Amino acid sequence: MSFDDFHKANDAKLLEEVSQICSSFEVNAEQLKEMTSYFIQQMEIGLANNNNNEGTINGNKAGLAMIPSYVTSKPNGTEEGLFMAAVLGGMNFRICSVQLNGDHTFDIKQAKTRIPDYLMEGTDATSDDLFGFLARRTSAFINKFHSDIMKPDTPLKLGFTFSYPVDQESLNSGTLIRWTKGLNIPDTVGKDVVQLYQEQLTIVGLNMVNVVALTNDTIGTFLSLCYAQGITTDGQVSGEISEPVIGCIFGTGTNGCYMEKIENIKKLPDYIRERLIHEGKTEMCINIEWGSFDNDNLVLPTTKYDIDIDKKYARNGGQLFEKRVSGMFLGEILRNVLVDLHSKGLILTQFRKHDQLPHRLKTPFQLSSEVLARIEIDDSSTLRETELSFLQSLRLPTTLAERKAIQSLVRVISRRSAYLASVPISAILIKTNALNKKYHGEVTVGYDGSIIELYPGFKSMMRQALAMGPIGPEGERKTHFVHSKDSGSAGGALCALVA
Ligand code: GLC
Repeated sequence: MSFDDFHKANDAKLLEEVSQICSSFEVNAEQLKEMTSYFIQQMEIGLANNNNNEGTINGNKAGLAMIPSYVTSKPNGTEEGLFMAAVLGGMNFRICSVQLNGDHTFDIKQAKTRIPDYLMEGTDATSDDLFGFLARRTSAFINKFHSDIMKPDTPLKLGFTFSYPVDQESLNSGTLIRWTKGLNIPDTVGKDVVQLYQEQLTIVGLNMVNVVALTNDTIGTFLSLCYAQGITTDGQVSGEISEPVIGCIFGTGTNGCYMEKIENIKKLPDYIRERLIHEGKTEMCINIEWGSFDNDNLVLPTTKYDIDIDKKYARNGGQLFEKRVSGMFLGEILRNVLVDLHSKGLILTQFRKHDQLPHRLKTPFQLSSEVLARIEIDDSSTLRETELSFLQSLRLPTTLAERKAIQSLVRVISRRSAYLASVPISAILIKTNALNKKYHGEVTVGYDGSIIELYPGFKSMMRQALAMGPIGPEGERKTHFVHSKDSGSAGGALCALVA
């Protein structure tokens, strides 16, 4: 066989194998419907179940985590005042001051820091190390921007947007249930994160900063949507257009929240439910923690790569849904497929053995979703952008046939993610009957997160799946997606305001 014939035969084998892999990533309308009804069932179980905060990790009897947030009203955009917000996300910490202007707008000052490696997974850092770091960043920010307002007799309220599952019994306290995403400091689990942060603030001399509210990032997204709602693109207030129903994040992790009737939150201790009803409250925002949807793997589409990833990163709270959807895992799925194709001698054949592959292709999480985003939209005939991306990010030269294979894989991985992302949205809309209520059933979904905001085509693929799923094209048409800008900061501030 000549050199050319050998390559042609290998390319044909690669194409065949890749088209099989691609079909294993496809999701059809039937699956969307099945997953949606299972999601609704799991929401209901989670609302009733008192010991459920592990999500489905201990068996599907527990249902979704459905964590009560103690946020019982929605802002309307007229709120005013200066508040601090601290936002601990998947990779960054942001400390901000937010001036709510009372006209749906706010002004924000903020400092963002990447969480240093010594605090990320696989280290022996302690809670004091982590919260000490947050307190020092807070102090540096205040010294820089707000030294004028820091007086011992004028306490400053701070809302803490904490993007991890916590068990809350009030707005200003919450114990960490488990770490998800990249952080893993074991001694924080089971402790009150508000207290840990407040203690460290006192140590750095910020006694006047009071952490008065703790909230999940999805709830921050929802609250800032409610506050800003009615703003048109040219910045004019246009009045209420449609009902804000959901706050969601599709970024490093994925999760969402919605307002639930207090009478339906069966797991609330009786004395709390009675107190709230006595205070005239009727609904409460629920943090679903949908990243752990179907941790028993009964309905989620599953390829052999998912099984490997689920096993390898089992520590990550299960989070089976998140592992198929969120930005932290899209590149990791592709990396696993490429390593597998290489082990079968079908791709990157210039490297004979696994050991010889470039370091970054062998190392988990080194293939980022930004690389996938560039490949997704590469429409040049030689896939030049794909070639450059692989050269730059992995130091890896590729042939045209390889690049075509890689692009097909990227596109099915992202489409599956976006299709799955539609499932919780349909489920909430159906469960709350929101599409049949006021304003002709028009609803708004507030979103934030790098994937939904920046990944090319993600939102339109998600909308396509909404139309294919149980709410159909009419439901999809009535669902408006609005980006909640600076959602963590504004949401944290709004939470501090209601505290
Ligand atoms: C993870 C966290 C969740 C958070 C989401 C988005 O799923 O468990 O609390 O809301 O990421 O950041």
